[in-house]
Amino acid sequence: MNTPVLHAQSLTKTFGTTTALAGVDLIVGRGESVAIMGASGSGKTTLLHVLAGITAPDAGSVHYAPAHGAPVDITTRNERERSKLRRETFGFVFQQGLLIPELTAIENIALALMINGTSRRVALEHAAGWMASLGLAGMEERRIGELSGGQAQRVAIARAQVTGAELVFADEPTGALDSQTSNDVMDALLWSTTGQGRTLLVVTHDSEVAARCSRTVHVRDGHVIGTETVNTGVTA
Ligand SMILES: Nc1ncnc2c1ncn2[C@@H]1O[C@H](COP(=O)(O)OP(=O)(O)OP(=O)(O)O)[C@@H](O)[C@H]1O
Ligand SMILES: [Mg+2]
Repeated sequence: MNTPVLHAQSLTKTFGTTTALAGVDLIVGRGESVAIMGASGSGKTTLLHVLAGITAPDAGSVHYAPAHGAPVDITTRNERERSKLRRETFGFVFQQGLLIPELTAIENIALALMINGTSRRVALEHAAGWMASLGLAGMEERRIGELSGGQAQRVAIARAQVTGAELVFADEPTGALDSQTSNDVMDALLWSTTGQGRTLLVVTHDSEVAARCSRTVHVRDGHVIGTETVNTGVTA
């Protein structure tokens, strides 16, 4: 495996009496695409949120090694530091893209940069570049409701990428799409992440989506189970 970008050890998380994570160890190499599969309620979203510093685990550590600079244990950072890391270094794509309906497609993408202090003009330029790369040229001024599901997901991917995110976390990014559109969205997601030397973690129920990733880890009852599928013939 390449140099680890994420190294999670002995992660546990309970919600009341529910054990969502029961001691998870996971190493993710830089430039990998890792699919996380498992039954509903098995702990996939919780794992993704803990790895991304959205949720603090009860115990365990998550070491993140940036491309430049020293590794950090995300779990020891306070909310302010984790929020900065999420804004500047990580990208997120969810099933419902969490796009802002009142803004145009290009503004939704540019906003991610403007929050980090980039000027509106430069942010819009970068956003336009990503839209063109993802086949969305000409749709800049449309509002989210005026896009198809697949187009909206590509806007969400552009928004996750425009800041130069080294690590992209996606939770069921194709969950609401038909299989052809899902395939197109995976093209966009893989091209914009592993295709650029970045790393992708994607939770999915869809074995076709998982098969396009370099590796699949299986989660059951809060554990990453031993069986792991290494996929060949990956198209980035
Ligand atoms: N905020 C919360 N409060 C209480 N219980 C929670 C919370 N988040 C998750 N859980 C519980 O933790 C367990 C794991 O949930 P999680 O969302 O990680 O599952 P999942 O594998 O993503 O499922 P799905 O495929 O349905 O999205 C479930 O039993 C869930 O009900
Ligand atoms: Mg989930």
